[in-house]
Amino acid sequence: MDKKLNELKARLQAELRSVQDSEVLAQIKNKYLGRKGELTNILKEVKNLAAEEKPRLGKLANDIKFELQSLLDKTEKIVSKPSGAGVDFDPTMPGSRREEGHLHPITLVQRDVEEAFAQLGFGIYDGPQLESEFYNFSALNIPADHPARETQDTFWLENHNLLRTHTSNLQVRMLEKYGAPFRGIFPGRVFRYESTDASHDHTFYQLEGLMVDKDISMANLIAVMKSLLSAVFRTKVDVRLRPGFFPFVEPGFELDIKCLVCGGNGCSVCKQSGWVELMPCGMVHPEVLKFGNVDPSVYSGFAFGLGLTRLVMMKYKIDDIRLLESGDLRFLRQF
Ligand code: DAH
Repeated sequence: MDKKLNELKARLQAELRSVQDSEVLAQIKNKYLGRKGELTNILKEVKNLAAEEKPRLGKLANDIKFELQSLLDKTEKIVSKPSGAGVDFDPTMPGSRREEGHLHPITLVQRDVEEAFAQLGFGIYDGPQLESEFYNFSALNIPADHPARETQDTFWLENHNLLRTHTSNLQVRMLEKYGAPFRGIFPGRVFRYESTDASHDHTFYQLEGLMVDKDISMANLIAVMKSLLSAVFRTKVDVRLRPGFFPFVEPGFELDIKCLVCGGNGCSVCKQSGWVELMPCGMVHPEVLKFGNVDPSVYSGFAFGLGLTRLVMMKYKIDDIRLLESGDLRFLRQF
């Protein structure tokens, strides 16, 4: 094998001396170092050698490969250099522009909302996306056999764990940790086990809000919502409040806004209704306060679960939710 290798090296050196253009060079390169090249084949044989020969010949073969590769690289540089190098460089030509990255539309809107809430004295909190059945359901007054569980299609994991179906999983966690009074928002990713279409995705973003203090009422809730919406849309939006049922609030409401994609005429985003459910909300159920070790006879509070992804779609008039997680640059460059 020593002989074979040295002979091959000599042959390649000789061939390289006469090379004039890069096409021939590429052929030579392929002949020796390509997938079925001569040297490649020899290297493959190394593994069949006797154990005492292997280390020495293996090293030799690799050294020669390295040497030949650098020889080829050197030749390539010489061959590819244009004659009169430097002459065709025109310093007055504009340079090529470097593309800049930017924030995702969800991040942009999330920051707007966070800023609006920060001004109202709300802290911004984060928590687990991999959650227990307890915090995602039971602590929110949704017992094991309650039909409300079925309204959220869940990705179940082992040992009664799950991917959180909503950011409400943090309500009791936060009360346990910080107690009352409390004022906070929890933006984040949530997951639903459902088939996707223009307005449903298995992964999307919510922004939960929770305010607990003495004498908190619906009036506080409505005032906070209004200031939020005007901060985000920077334009007048029509809203309506409907009664809504969620086991963890009493009373519960749905806050809808007039669809900004179609102006209320009906489109795929608003399912032809002209209105989009943006923010379910309500007064925190006494049972939930109790789970968080907060005394409902002293404190009350409101909670809301803003559909952050939906809000983004409204703000930028995006008519297909799947675009947001698609990573498609033609879409992302527009923001
Ligand atoms: N977590 C609920 C969901 O994803 C939404 C929700 C409803 C959140 C009412 C709230 C609330 O905080 O008060 O369907």
